[in-house]
Amino acid sequence: MDSLPELFASNRAWAAKITARDPAFFDRLSRQQNPRYLWIGCSDSRVPANEIVGMQPGEMFVHRNVANVVVHTDLNCLAVVQYAIDVLRVEHIIVCGHYGCGGVQAATETRPLGLIDNWLRHVQDVAEHHHQMLAECRGDTVRVDRLCALNVLEQAANVCRTTVVQDAWRRGQRVTVHGWIYRLQDGLLRNLGFSALSVAEAAASYTAALKRIASSEAD
Ligand code: CO
Repeated sequence: MDSLPELFASNRAWAAKITARDPAFFDRLSRQQNPRYLWIGCSDSRVPANEIVGMQPGEMFVHRNVANVVVHTDLNCLAVVQYAIDVLRVEHIIVCGHYGCGGVQAATETRPLGLIDNWLRHVQDVAEHHHQMLAECRGDTVRVDRLCALNVLEQAANVCRTTVVQDAWRRGQRVTVHGWIYRLQDGLLRNLGFSALSVAEAAASYTAALKRIASSEAD
């Protein structure tokens, strides 16, 4: 049995490096976490949430799944959002997709991949909803990238529609929902222009972000 000794070795080196810099780091962190941000992102190994925003353990609460999908019946995701808002009292929820997302791309193809096709059905729904905007695109790469952006927008809107977020807003808790996208080729995040702190703002921001995506390059 391969017990993956290289991972334990690199874990020890990582812990030693942090302790050398800040001897009380783990002790302090073990007592409490106090993140200001909830990150909902793709499981893709090339988009490590903490790392791309330069954050340390304890600074960001994270939920990841294939193609950063937020489904209203997904108890896993909903529990993360509820705990983040009600218990950790995060101030920001960031839905972050990435261009060139394999999950999004698979949703545009007819090739069967197995169980995951059921999950990616949610991304296909996004594609069907915005079928006109996708039809304008010349070339598969541009079309997939546009769908990646539209998917972020729809999933961020879904976060705003959860009872958890709606209840928080109703009681005046400040939670802002953001829609961002990451480019693997340059390591940079882009703001898709979706940012909402209320139901009204979510609707206006959705329309504005959609316009922005529509006016982005289609060829
Ligand atoms: Co992805």
